[in-house]
Amino acid sequence: MKNAKIAGIGVYVPDNVVTNDDLSKKMNTTDEWIVERTGIKERRYANVEVDKNYIMGAKASRKAMEMANTTAEEIDLIVYATLSADYIFPGSGVLLQRELGCKNIGAIDVRAQCSGFVYGLSIAEQYIKTGTYKNILLVGSEIHSSGLDYSDHGRHISVIFGDGAGAAVIQPAEGEGKGVLSTHLHSEGEHAEQLAVIDPGFSKVPRFQPEMVKPGGSFYPVMNGQFVFKNAVVRFEEVIKEALETNNYTVDDLDMLIPHQANLRISQFIQKKFRLPEEKIHNTIMKYGNTTAASIPIGLSEALEAGKIKDGDLVCLAAFGSGFTWASALIRW
Ligand code: UT7
Repeated sequence: MKNAKIAGIGVYVPDNVVTNDDLSKKMNTTDEWIVERTGIKERRYANVEVDKNYIMGAKASRKAMEMANTTAEEIDLIVYATLSADYIFPGSGVLLQRELGCKNIGAIDVRAQCSGFVYGLSIAEQYIKTGTYKNILLVGSEIHSSGLDYSDHGRHISVIFGDGAGAAVIQPAEGEGKGVLSTHLHSEGEHAEQLAVIDPGFSKVPRFQPEMVKPGGSFYPVMNGQFVFKNAVVRFEEVIKEALETNNYTVDDLDMLIPHQANLRISQFIQKKFRLPEEKIHNTIMKYGNTTAASIPIGLSEALEAGKIKDGDLVCLAAFGSGFTWASALIRW
């Protein structure tokens, strides 16, 4: 069995930069509060007339395919991670299949929120290892900006999210011990409502009620920020350790950690906990905010471009978010 590897990676973020000062014109917040609590300075907002979720996914995918020297016709499977799909159904995976002109391949939609990219990598890994497929397109794409509560009710959530997309082509790894060494997935549905968009769900009649869209309504994300934060730091630590220990490594063996970008303070907490030097962790939240399923491929792509990941390096991807879900992947690059 051959390991899976990330053969190509691509990113797309909208041009429209929204600073903290821009947000302070819309709601009762300040640049100082946002930077101090989250580390975020700016984020990107999509113009949805042009950049649909799947269009952003396609733009990132084309770059990833180019890097992997692969064409859309050669893709065997799409795995599409998002919490902000274009439609309630069908999922954005089929829209991407149409947009790219792929064959009538399978398109799996993953609903694991911030952990979506790592969950998706785990799915892709299984198909590659068993030899079922040779070219899998894995996408994480999000448009948050159209669905946020910009009133004071939602200000602790609205300031953290941004739009963007990342994609990867997953192929069999050449060379002993290279590629994805293991993936680790977890969930704890007990806390599902601690970070969620509840409506318009199908378990309510009528599905749409006007109060849902009032400020503070259930149409918008709700988050118990401090509870999520406390769980995040514990689960990040656990799942990174799990990946290292499974493969008989310690944190000293790690060359690069790409954590999901939830809050710079969470990343810094993990960095401190593991005593990781600055060059062994890559953060992007300052520029893009929390882009949920897109944050890991964005971080990975940037770290690669900056020459921070080299052939043979040990790289850990780790995520935590709504569900709760959390996950990690250990990769020998
Ligand atoms: O990616 C998925 C996983 N998500 C996360 O991991 C997010 C985890 N949580 C967090 O990152 C933080 O909880 C937040 C950044 C979301 C919030 O930071 P916090 O330090 O937990 O603030 P808080 O919500 O407890 O609010 C503290 C104060 C409150 O005022 P009072 O009651 O102390 O007077 C809020 O009303 O800050 C106020 N506040 C704001 N002030 C200015 C909340 N949001 C804002 C805001 N601007 N945007």
